[in-house]
Amino acid sequence: MTETTPDQLDPSLRRLIEAAREAADHAYSPYSGLSVGAALLGADGSVVSGANVENAAYPLGICAERTAIAAAVSQGLKDFRAIAVTARGSALATDGLLSPCGACRQTLIEFAQLAGHDIQVLLASPDGQRVLLTSARELLPLAMGRDQVRPGA
Ligand code: THU
Repeated sequence: MTETTPDQLDPSLRRLIEAAREAADHAYSPYSGLSVGAALLGADGSVVSGANVENAAYPLGICAERTAIAAAVSQGLKDFRAIAVTARGSALATDGLLSPCGACRQTLIEFAQLAGHDIQVLLASPDGQRVLLTSARELLPLAMGRDQVRPGA
């Protein structure tokens, strides 16, 4: 886990952060007041983004990361190199870097295992100028996953 700035990053990762920031503009989060955006970088270079979508029945809300993953899989994309995540809003009480929730970590692990490689995770501040670099495996050590079950058995 390292903290960095966008100018130190590959241009494709800088663009990914910008895509996550744009996605956060489309968040539907009237209940939490937290607008979250996520953008996935596919192995083929494509970018698919998502935002959090909340509901008056609170537990039905879905995080930006899993919205992005569902959108990507729906488009035939399952091999992810990286995901950028950013959040903004008056409800953001942290240092500005939103840490993915456990459900999103577990969902990322599924696709890291499927692809056979780790997925880089970039947590960006609201202005995109601070970036924490980590990975799916670093975020969820000893994860339960595909290696522990026999799919379809
Ligand atoms: N949220 C995300 O979109 N991603 C996360 O990893 C954590 C939380 C959203 C869910 C909810 O709409 C709001 O942030 C407050 O928890």
